[in-house]
Amino acid sequence: MSNTAPTATADQSAAKPSEPAKKPAKAKPALMPGEKPKSVLWEELSTLSPYVTKAAVFSIFINFLALVPTIYMLETYDRVVNSRSVETLFWLTVALVIGLVMMEGVELVRTHLLEIAGERFDQRMRERLFNATFTGRLLRHPAGTGMALNDLKMLRDFFSSPVLTSVMDLPSGLLFLAIIYMINPAMGNSALMGVIFQFILSIWNQGRTMRPMQEAQRAAAEAQNYANVTLRNAQVIESMGMLPKIHEKWMGLQRRFLLQQAIASDFAGNSQAGSKLIGMLQGSMIMAIGAFVSVYAFNNPSPNPNGPAPLDPSLLIVASILGGRALAPISSLVMQWRMIATAWGAYQRLQDVLEMIPERGERMSLHAPNGPLIAEQVVTSAPGNPNPILKGVSCGIHPGQALAIVGPSAAGKSTLAKVMLGTWPVMNGKVRLDGADIHSWNKDELGPYLGYLPQEIELFDGTIADNIARFGEPDPEHLADAVRLAGLEPIIEALPDGLDTEIGDLGGILSGGQRQRVGLARAVYGKPKLVVLDEPNASLDERGEKALLQAILELKARGTIVVIVTHRTDILQVVDLMLVLRDGQTQAFGPKDQVIAALKKAADEQRAKMEEARVRAEQAKLEAAAPSQSAAPPESAAPAEGASA
Ligand SMILES: Nc1ncnc2c1ncn2[C@@H]1O[C@H](COP(=O)(O)OP(=O)(O)OP(=O)(O)O)[C@@H](O)[C@H]1O
Ligand SMILES: [Mg+2]
Repeated sequence: MSNTAPTATADQSAAKPSEPAKKPAKAKPALMPGEKPKSVLWEELSTLSPYVTKAAVFSIFINFLALVPTIYMLETYDRVVNSRSVETLFWLTVALVIGLVMMEGVELVRTHLLEIAGERFDQRMRERLFNATFTGRLLRHPAGTGMALNDLKMLRDFFSSPVLTSVMDLPSGLLFLAIIYMINPAMGNSALMGVIFQFILSIWNQGRTMRPMQEAQRAAAEAQNYANVTLRNAQVIESMGMLPKIHEKWMGLQRRFLLQQAIASDFAGNSQAGSKLIGMLQGSMIMAIGAFVSVYAFNNPSPNPNGPAPLDPSLLIVASILGGRALAPISSLVMQWRMIATAWGAYQRLQDVLEMIPERGERMSLHAPNGPLIAEQVVTSAPGNPNPILKGVSCGIHPGQALAIVGPSAAGKSTLAKVMLGTWPVMNGKVRLDGADIHSWNKDELGPYLGYLPQEIELFDGTIADNIARFGEPDPEHLADAVRLAGLEPIIEALPDGLDTEIGDLGGILSGGQRQRVGLARAVYGKPKLVVLDEPNASLDERGEKALLQAILELKARGTIVVIVTHRTDILQVVDLMLVLRDGQTQAFGPKDQVIAALKKAADEQRAKMEEARVRAEQAKLEAAAPSQSAAPPESAAPAEGASA
């Protein structure tokens, strides 16, 4: 059968409304040759550098102020005990209190700064990631699981975690190291060795724990997702006794998570013990080296007056304390391995989501659509799958016309319905509504002009009125109109709270047919210009089906474009156009009568061909049998006849 051209659309290129210019996007600086584009996430994080830099400067103050009790202790021994001056003790104590109060104050400011940075990061990314999750869900993409929003929270918490403050303490650690060198180079070397060991340990620890920890996170998310999705189908699980199997599969995922977590924890435990040992040895080793240098200098006085001299004991204590503090940030990072691995995993996953699902571009603000819906050579596939589902489908429908999309299962009917609504992206070709590409309309503005009843009805927790009015403020006139069109009145009258009845999660308290009618009422609410109904009569009884046919006629009379995906023939009475899809290709498209006649003709031709083939096969069989009969000897003729009979 030849494809019928979309005759109803031939004049449409002239009917395009003038498309207003899109808002110009903020210009980005051009990339230098060889320069890699920065990730969106990194760019967002870099905008927080003023907060983080200030917090880092405050960290240096905090670290030095944290030495105040040590200085107090040394000065008390040095000045008060020797001079027995209560006044000195008093003023030293006043200085100590002022120093500690200042330290707490600066620390509070630093915490506040990091909290603001986390909050701002969350604010800037929240909408973008919510949209990415929503789009991922729409396209049934792995990014649609909602994990991105958890990951965002994780990164936000990272800002006020001890990890970031430990990183900020690293420069102070280096300063302390420099001070120890100034006190005595041998003690400085000893402190440096401790820092190097600690550093190697932390890098080794991160390298070994990061992968199992990320695996553990992935397995935990999979287990959580599996539990969420399967528990939604509790009825099916219970009725067919599937619970043990489901539980087994969930336990398998859970075991993978626990195993990876145990591997990471085991290794990190050893590293932490090593780090603790280095930390404890550090102070004493520095003091031992200092004492050795002093004893050596005492026993071997240098003839050179500028040569090594015994060290002041208080300096030994200062160096030992500073050595401990120089190590503290690195050993704290080793201790915080879990937080670092978790945050790094979250960062990478967010980056993947943002790369895989780019930001929705600026959409056009247009007037209410009044023109036809035209699909031009639409080619599309599922995300991540290069094999097209629709392979160049074209059709066109004028306002006031109804199109039936028919074809076998998996032909691509539901996919075409989603493409027509602009919720499924196209690889090639265009879908135009009133002359403008459906993907470039501002979806929030276009939404009220569209009605959609999906194959899986998808009602939401709330009242019937909320669901029909699409969770906006219900307009009584539109609500009554939608209820009437969907034939919902008897159903609503039978419910105790009428339109205000809570329908529960996914419309759980309604029957399949009732859900379908509520879904239909939602699709026709607000007098939309384009209504797409995907198998709207799958669960309807005779009365429901009559109401549906009446609704389609009324929608057409109002000038609505109606697209119906159907397997049933009753609905064909009220449609004007028919599109027959097979394996993602247009088998026929055109006015209903022509398509039906063409289908009938093709079926007749097919039948005639099959009949002809059958007759020919029988003739060939007879001809094959005739020579063998004539060639057979007369005495064997009887059994041969009996066998053929
Ligand atoms: N999200 C998806 N990911 C991968 N493949 C998909 C996805 N959605 C649909 N497909 C594939 O696209 C093809 C067409 O699916 P579609 O739902 O459009 O069929 P249909 O004609 O509506 O079938 P039915 O009459 O059974 O509803 C099928 O082979 C299906 O497996
Ligand atoms: Mg379908």
